[in-house]
Amino acid sequence: MSAKLKTQSSKLNTSKRLVASKRSESGWRKEIERVLITEEQIARRIKTLAREIERDFRGREMVVISLLNGTVMFLADLIRHLNLPLRLDFMGVSSYGAGTESGELVFTKELRLDVRGRDVLLIDDILDTGKTMSRVLPKIHALKPRRIKICVLLDKPSRRVEKVKADYVGFEIPDFFVVGYGLDFAERYRNLPFVGVLHPHIYEAASKPAGKV
Ligand code: IMP
Ligand code: MG
Repeated sequence: MSAKLKTQSSKLNTSKRLVASKRSESGWRKEIERVLITEEQIARRIKTLAREIERDFRGREMVVISLLNGTVMFLADLIRHLNLPLRLDFMGVSSYGAGTESGELVFTKELRLDVRGRDVLLIDDILDTGKTMSRVLPKIHALKPRRIKICVLLDKPSRRVEKVKADYVGFEIPDFFVVGYGLDFAERYRNLPFVGVLHPHIYEAASKPAGKV
């Protein structure tokens, strides 16, 4: 193939890829019933949250513990606005199943940093029933930090079954199943830049037994 033809064919491939990615993007958007919190609202709220956290943690080196995987976007945006010395570590927590209810909890990654005597900021994407936090908190408490403060992007207080409260909440939301900005349904939608309400037909279809319509 001549050099010119090669360039043309790679251009064609690129434009084909663009069409394909646009198609799948609009497919995803159809699965979102509505945008609940926009990118701009999230960005604004994160700046004010960071100011609150800075005020409370000033003068001490903090350890930020972030729960994987839902916190990726929130964490990255929040800590870049934290004008404080900090160390960062992750805990992997996963709930079995691809449904919208929290199932059996498994730890997929343990902490590596020593948090004894330290001020810990524990970050999660959403506080829902509180089951995750009520399993994670005793694990961290056992490591004898000086204190633990909890920060979540979203709080759904109406669904709470465990007695857990967050110290910093980005947004309190009603009982909708939401995705985007790190939050998933069956590991999808994490990359959407906003928080959206997932169309119930998506998770209702997923919970039907295979082979049935
Ligand atoms: P909890 O254990 O019921 O408090 O739920 C906490 C975890 O469940 C979060 O870290 C999320 O991974 C997941 N979760 C709860 N509600 C939602 C939601 O509306 N969308 C996506 N994930 C959610
Ligand atoms: Mg999660």
